[in-house]
Amino acid sequence: MENYNGWLIVNSYYHPAKFTSLYKMLQEAAEKANLRLSKWTSEQRPTIIGSLAREPRPDFVLYWDKDVFLARALELSGLRLFNSGKAIQLADDKAETALTLAEKGIPIVDTIPAPTCFPGCRRNPATAVQAAKILGWPLVIKENKGSFGAQVYLARDEKEAEKILMHIGEHDCIFQRFIQESAGKDIRVTVVGGKAICAMERHSASKQEFRSNIGAGGTATAHSLTPLEERLAVDAANALGLDFAGVDILMGKDENERYICEVNSNPQLQSTFDSCGINPATNIMWHIRSQLKNPAIVE
Ligand SMILES: Nc1ncnc2c1ncn2[C@@H]1O[C@H](COP(=O)(O)OP(=O)(O)O)[C@@H](O)[C@H]1O
Ligand SMILES: [Mg+2]
Repeated sequence: MENYNGWLIVNSYYHPAKFTSLYKMLQEAAEKANLRLSKWTSEQRPTIIGSLAREPRPDFVLYWDKDVFLARALELSGLRLFNSGKAIQLADDKAETALTLAEKGIPIVDTIPAPTCFPGCRRNPATAVQAAKILGWPLVIKENKGSFGAQVYLARDEKEAEKILMHIGEHDCIFQRFIQESAGKDIRVTVVGGKAICAMERHSASKQEFRSNIGAGGTATAHSLTPLEERLAVDAANALGLDFAGVDILMGKDENERYICEVNSNPQLQSTFDSCGINPATNIMWHIRSQLKNPAIVE
Protein backbone atom coordinates (compact mmCIF):
# COMPACT_ATOMS: atom_id res chain seq x y z
CA MET A 1 0.00 0.00 0.00
CA GLU A 2 1.45 3.34 -1.07
CA ASN A 3 2.56 5.69 1.68
CA TYR A 4 1.40 9.31 1.67
CA ASN A 5 2.60 12.21 3.80
CA GLY A 6 0.08 14.63 5.21
CA TRP A 7 -0.12 17.59 7.50
CA LEU A 8 -2.81 17.87 10.13
CA ILE A 9 -3.29 21.60 10.56
CA VAL A 10 -4.98 22.70 13.77
CA ASN A 11 -5.85 25.99 15.39
CA SER A 12 -3.04 27.93 17.06
CA TYR A 13 -4.91 29.16 20.11
CA TYR A 14 -7.68 26.70 20.98
CA HIS A 15 -6.49 23.63 22.86
CA PRO A 16 -9.20 22.05 25.06
CA ALA A 17 -8.66 18.39 26.01
CA LYS A 18 -11.38 17.13 23.64
CA PHE A 19 -9.42 18.51 20.70
CA THR A 20 -6.19 16.87 21.86
CA SER A 21 -7.98 13.50 21.89
CA LEU A 22 -9.64 14.24 18.54
CA TYR A 23 -6.22 14.88 16.94
CA LYS A 24 -4.94 11.64 18.51
CA MET A 25 -7.94 9.79 17.03
CA LEU A 26 -7.16 11.23 13.58
CA GLN A 27 -3.45 10.43 13.80
CA GLU A 28 -4.09 6.86 14.95
CA ALA A 29 -6.58 6.29 12.13
CA ALA A 30 -4.08 7.77 9.65
CA GLU A 31 -1.36 5.41 10.80
CA LYS A 32 -3.66 2.42 10.29
CA ALA A 33 -4.42 3.61 6.76
CA ASN A 34 -0.69 3.99 6.05
CA LEU A 35 -0.84 7.77 5.96
CA ARG A 36 1.85 9.77 7.76
CA LEU A 37 0.18 12.69 9.44
CA SER A 38 2.32 15.31 11.19
CA LYS A 39 0.49 17.88 13.30
CA TRP A 40 1.11 21.61 12.89
CA THR A 41 -0.64 24.66 14.25
CA SER A 42 -1.65 27.31 11.75
CA GLU A 43 1.03 29.65 13.13
CA GLN A 44 3.67 27.07 12.23
CA ARG A 45 2.63 27.22 8.57
CA PRO A 46 2.84 30.85 7.46
CA THR A 47 2.25 30.88 3.71
CA ILE A 48 2.72 33.69 1.22
CA ILE A 49 -0.49 34.03 -0.78
CA GLY A 50 0.12 33.02 -4.37
CA SER A 51 3.66 31.74 -3.99
CA LEU A 52 4.86 28.15 -3.99
CA ALA A 53 6.23 27.05 -0.63
CA ARG A 54 9.90 26.10 -0.83
CA GLU A 55 9.88 23.62 2.02
CA PRO A 56 9.09 19.91 1.59
CA ARG A 57 5.46 19.62 0.61
CA PRO A 58 3.03 17.00 1.84
CA ASP A 59 0.77 14.92 -0.43
CA PHE A 60 -2.30 16.26 1.36
CA VAL A 61 -3.45 18.43 4.24
CA LEU A 62 -6.13 17.41 6.73
CA TYR A 63 -7.29 20.88 7.64
CA TRP A 64 -8.86 20.92 11.11
CA ASP A 65 -9.10 24.68 11.54
CA LYS A 66 -11.47 27.44 10.50
CA ASP A 67 -8.63 29.64 9.31
CA VAL A 68 -9.90 29.79 5.76
CA PHE A 69 -7.33 32.30 4.56
CA LEU A 70 -4.40 30.06 5.41
CA ALA A 71 -6.38 27.16 3.90
CA ARG A 72 -6.86 29.01 0.63
CA ALA A 73 -3.24 30.22 0.59
CA LEU A 74 -2.09 26.61 0.95
CA GLU A 75 -4.43 25.59 -1.87
CA LEU A 76 -3.06 28.36 -4.08
CA SER A 77 0.39 26.88 -3.52
CA GLY A 78 -0.94 23.64 -4.99
CA LEU A 79 -1.87 21.55 -1.96
CA ARG A 80 -5.00 19.37 -1.74
CA LEU A 81 -6.90 20.15 1.43
CA PHE A 82 -9.49 18.00 3.18
CA ASN A 83 -11.81 19.92 3.65
CA SER A 84 -11.15 22.67 1.12
CA GLY A 85 -10.88 26.29 2.24
CA LYS A 86 -13.97 27.29 0.27
CA ALA A 87 -16.06 24.45 1.74
CA ILE A 88 -14.97 25.36 5.28
CA GLN A 89 -15.82 29.01 4.60
CA LEU A 90 -19.35 28.12 3.46
CA ALA A 91 -19.98 25.71 6.35
CA ASP A 92 -18.49 27.94 9.03
CA ASP A 93 -20.89 30.79 8.31
CA LYS A 94 -24.54 29.90 8.94
CA ALA A 95 -25.83 32.58 6.54
CA GLU A 96 -23.50 31.36 3.76
CA THR A 97 -24.66 27.80 4.44
CA ALA A 98 -28.35 28.79 4.26
CA LEU A 99 -27.82 30.69 1.01
CA THR A 100 -25.84 27.89 -0.62
CA LEU A 101 -28.30 25.18 0.38
CA ALA A 102 -31.37 27.24 -0.56
CA GLU A 103 -29.81 27.89 -3.97
CA LYS A 104 -29.71 24.11 -4.49
CA GLY A 105 -33.27 23.64 -3.28
CA ILE A 106 -32.24 21.82 -0.09
CA PRO A 107 -34.75 22.43 2.74
CA ILE A 108 -33.28 24.63 5.45
CA VAL A 109 -34.90 26.21 8.48
CA ASP A 110 -36.47 29.56 7.50
CA THR A 111 -33.65 32.05 7.99
CA ILE A 112 -33.49 35.84 7.83
CA PRO A 113 -30.05 37.47 7.85
CA ALA A 114 -29.95 40.29 10.41
CA PRO A 115 -28.77 43.68 9.12
CA THR A 116 -24.99 44.15 9.16
CA CYS A 117 -23.87 46.13 12.19
CA PHE A 118 -20.61 48.08 11.91
CA PRO A 119 -18.27 48.46 14.92
CA GLY A 120 -19.48 51.28 17.15
CA CYS A 121 -23.09 51.06 15.91
CA ARG A 122 -25.93 49.67 18.03
CA ARG A 123 -28.23 46.88 16.87
CA ASN A 124 -31.92 47.70 16.66
CA PRO A 125 -34.24 45.21 18.44
CA ALA A 126 -36.99 46.25 15.99
CA THR A 127 -35.20 44.00 13.46
CA ALA A 128 -35.98 41.00 15.69
CA VAL A 129 -39.61 42.11 16.09
CA GLN A 130 -39.89 42.42 12.32
CA ALA A 131 -38.34 38.94 11.86
CA ALA A 132 -40.70 37.50 14.50
CA LYS A 133 -43.70 38.87 12.59
CA ILE A 134 -42.69 36.47 9.82
CA LEU A 135 -41.08 33.63 11.79
CA GLY A 136 -43.01 33.87 15.07
CA TRP A 137 -41.93 33.92 18.72
CA PRO A 138 -39.91 32.42 20.22
CA LEU A 139 -37.25 33.43 17.75
CA VAL A 140 -33.92 31.67 17.30
CA ILE A 141 -31.01 34.08 16.99
CA LYS A 142 -27.61 32.73 15.95
CA GLU A 143 -24.26 34.29 15.38
CA ASN A 144 -23.17 33.33 11.88
CA LYS A 145 -20.05 31.75 13.33
CA GLY A 146 -20.25 29.58 16.41
CA SER A 147 -19.96 26.06 17.76
CA PHE A 148 -21.21 23.75 20.53
CA GLY A 149 -24.46 25.72 20.76
CA ALA A 150 -22.58 28.52 22.50
CA GLN A 151 -23.59 31.25 20.03
CA VAL A 152 -27.20 30.05 19.55
CA TYR A 153 -29.95 31.84 21.51
CA LEU A 154 -33.72 31.76 21.95
CA ALA A 155 -35.70 34.97 22.45
CA ARG A 156 -39.27 34.73 23.77
CA ASP A 157 -40.03 38.41 23.21
CA GLU A 158 -38.60 41.75 22.20
CA LYS A 159 -36.92 42.32 25.57
CA GLU A 160 -35.02 39.04 25.40
CA ALA A 161 -34.16 39.65 21.76
CA GLU A 162 -32.74 43.06 22.65
CA LYS A 163 -30.51 41.56 25.36
CA ILE A 164 -29.25 38.92 22.94
CA LEU A 165 -28.64 41.42 20.15
CA MET A 166 -26.71 43.74 22.49
CA HIS A 167 -24.58 40.75 23.52
CA ILE A 168 -23.94 39.81 19.87
CA GLY A 169 -23.04 43.40 18.99
CA GLU A 170 -21.26 43.76 15.67
CA HIS A 171 -20.89 40.03 14.97
CA ASP A 172 -22.97 38.89 12.00
CA CYS A 173 -26.12 37.04 13.00
CA ILE A 174 -29.30 35.46 11.64
CA PHE A 175 -32.89 35.03 12.80
CA GLN A 176 -34.43 31.57 12.43
CA ARG A 177 -37.85 30.01 12.84
CA PHE A 178 -37.91 27.96 16.05
CA ILE A 179 -38.79 24.36 15.12
CA GLN A 180 -40.88 23.48 18.16
CA GLU A 181 -41.11 19.75 17.32
CA SER A 182 -37.32 19.54 17.38
CA ALA A 183 -36.86 21.43 20.65
CA GLY A 184 -34.15 19.66 22.63
CA LYS A 185 -33.40 17.07 19.94
CA ASP A 186 -31.86 16.77 16.52
CA ILE A 187 -30.14 14.28 14.23
CA ARG A 188 -26.40 14.49 13.59
CA VAL A 189 -25.40 12.70 10.40
CA THR A 190 -21.77 11.97 9.59
CA VAL A 191 -21.05 12.17 5.88
CA VAL A 192 -17.72 11.08 4.39
CA GLY A 193 -16.91 11.02 0.68
CA GLY A 194 -20.53 11.60 -0.33
CA LYS A 195 -21.91 8.80 1.87
CA ALA A 196 -23.85 9.04 5.11
CA ILE A 197 -21.84 6.61 7.24
CA CYS A 198 -23.87 6.85 10.45
CA ALA A 199 -26.15 9.06 12.51
CA MET A 200 -27.10 9.78 16.07
CA GLU A 201 -30.13 11.35 17.67
CA ARG A 202 -29.07 13.94 20.21
CA HIS A 203 -31.09 15.07 23.21
CA SER A 204 -30.48 18.15 25.29
CA ALA A 205 -29.46 18.01 28.92
CA SER A 206 -32.81 19.28 30.27
CA LYS A 207 -36.38 20.15 29.25
CA GLN A 208 -35.57 23.86 29.46
CA GLU A 209 -32.63 23.50 27.06
CA PHE A 210 -33.51 23.55 23.34
CA ARG A 211 -29.93 23.01 22.12
CA SER A 212 -28.97 19.35 21.85
CA ASN A 213 -25.21 19.81 21.41
CA ILE A 214 -23.12 17.23 23.25
CA GLY A 215 -20.77 20.12 24.11
CA ALA A 216 -23.72 21.74 25.95
CA GLY A 217 -24.38 18.58 28.00
CA GLY A 218 -26.55 16.66 25.49
CA THR A 219 -26.62 12.89 25.11
CA ALA A 220 -26.78 10.73 21.99
CA THR A 221 -28.00 7.37 20.76
CA ALA A 222 -27.54 5.68 17.38
CA HIS A 223 -30.18 6.65 14.83
CA SER A 224 -31.31 4.75 11.72
CA LEU A 225 -31.55 7.22 8.90
CA THR A 226 -34.67 7.42 6.76
CA PRO A 227 -34.02 7.72 3.00
CA LEU A 228 -35.04 11.42 3.21
CA GLU A 229 -32.58 12.19 6.02
CA GLU A 230 -29.81 10.34 4.23
CA ARG A 231 -30.44 12.22 0.98
CA LEU A 232 -30.62 15.62 2.70
CA ALA A 233 -27.39 15.07 4.61
CA VAL A 234 -25.48 13.91 1.54
CA ASP A 235 -26.92 16.70 -0.64
CA ALA A 236 -26.00 19.31 1.98
CA ALA A 237 -22.40 18.09 2.30
CA ASN A 238 -22.05 17.94 -1.49
CA ALA A 239 -23.61 21.37 -2.01
CA LEU A 240 -20.98 22.89 0.26
CA GLY A 241 -18.18 20.85 -1.36
CA LEU A 242 -17.25 19.07 1.87
CA ASP A 243 -15.21 15.85 1.77
CA PHE A 244 -16.53 15.07 5.23
CA ALA A 245 -19.13 16.73 7.39
CA GLY A 246 -21.35 16.58 10.44
CA VAL A 247 -24.82 17.57 9.26
CA ASP A 248 -27.41 18.69 11.83
CA ILE A 249 -31.02 17.95 10.87
CA LEU A 250 -34.12 19.25 12.68
CA MET A 251 -37.35 17.27 12.84
CA GLY A 252 -40.70 18.73 11.81
CA LYS A 253 -44.24 17.52 12.48
CA ASP A 254 -43.74 14.10 10.86
CA GLU A 255 -40.96 12.08 9.29
CA ASN A 256 -41.47 13.77 5.90
CA GLU A 257 -40.57 17.13 7.41
CA ARG A 258 -36.86 17.54 7.89
CA TYR A 259 -34.74 20.68 7.74
CA ILE A 260 -31.03 21.20 7.59
CA CYS A 261 -30.08 23.14 10.70
CA GLU A 262 -26.38 23.61 9.96
CA VAL A 263 -23.36 21.77 8.60
CA ASN A 264 -20.04 21.29 10.38
CA SER A 265 -16.78 21.10 8.44
CA ASN A 266 -14.75 20.03 11.50
CA PRO A 267 -17.11 17.84 13.51
CA GLN A 268 -16.28 16.30 16.86
CA LEU A 269 -15.96 12.54 16.31
CA GLN A 270 -15.88 10.99 19.77
CA SER A 271 -19.66 11.12 20.44
CA THR A 272 -20.36 9.56 17.04
CA PHE A 273 -17.90 6.79 17.84
CA ASP A 274 -19.42 6.28 21.30
CA SER A 275 -23.05 6.15 20.14
CA CYS A 276 -22.73 4.49 16.72
CA GLY A 277 -19.62 2.33 17.24
CA ILE A 278 -18.20 3.69 13.99
CA ASN A 279 -14.97 5.66 13.95
CA PRO A 280 -15.41 8.37 11.29
CA ALA A 281 -11.65 9.08 11.41
CA THR A 282 -11.10 5.72 9.68
CA ASN A 283 -13.57 6.60 6.90
CA ILE A 284 -11.92 10.02 6.51
CA MET A 285 -8.48 8.45 6.05
CA TRP A 286 -9.73 5.95 3.46
CA HIS A 287 -11.53 8.74 1.65
CA ILE A 288 -8.28 10.74 1.55
CA ARG A 289 -6.42 7.72 0.20
CA SER A 290 -9.01 7.18 -2.51
CA GLN A 291 -8.86 10.84 -3.54
CA LEU A 292 -5.07 10.89 -3.72
CA LYS A 293 -5.11 7.85 -5.96
CA ASN A 294 -7.98 9.05 -8.05
CA PRO A 295 -8.33 12.81 -7.65
CA ALA A 296 -11.82 14.03 -8.33
CA ILE A 297 -13.25 17.40 -7.55
CA VAL A 298 -15.95 17.13 -4.90
CA GLU A 299 -18.87 19.01 -6.38
N1 LIG B 1 -34.26 26.76 14.40
C1 LIG B 1 -34.12 25.91 15.42
N2 LIG B 1 -35.21 25.35 16.03
C2 LIG B 1 -35.08 24.47 17.05
N3 LIG B 1 -33.87 24.10 17.56
C3 LIG B 1 -32.75 24.62 17.00
C4 LIG B 1 -32.82 25.54 15.90
N4 LIG B 1 -31.58 25.88 15.55
C5 LIG B 1 -30.76 25.22 16.38
N5 LIG B 1 -31.44 24.45 17.27
C6 LIG B 1 -30.85 23.61 18.32
O1 LIG B 1 -29.65 24.24 18.76
C7 LIG B 1 -28.52 23.41 18.47
C8 LIG B 1 -27.34 24.26 18.06
O2 LIG B 1 -27.62 24.95 16.84
P1 LIG B 1 -26.62 24.90 15.62
O3 LIG B 1 -27.18 25.77 14.55
O4 LIG B 1 -26.34 23.49 15.26
O5 LIG B 1 -25.32 25.63 16.20
P2 LIG B 1 -23.86 25.10 16.59
O6 LIG B 1 -23.00 25.42 15.43
O7 LIG B 1 -23.47 25.87 17.79
O8 LIG B 1 -23.97 23.61 16.84
C9 LIG B 1 -29.00 22.43 17.41
O9 LIG B 1 -28.26 21.24 17.45
C10 LIG B 1 -30.47 22.23 17.79
O10 LIG B 1 -30.58 21.29 18.85
MG1 LIG C 1 -24.67 22.17 15.43
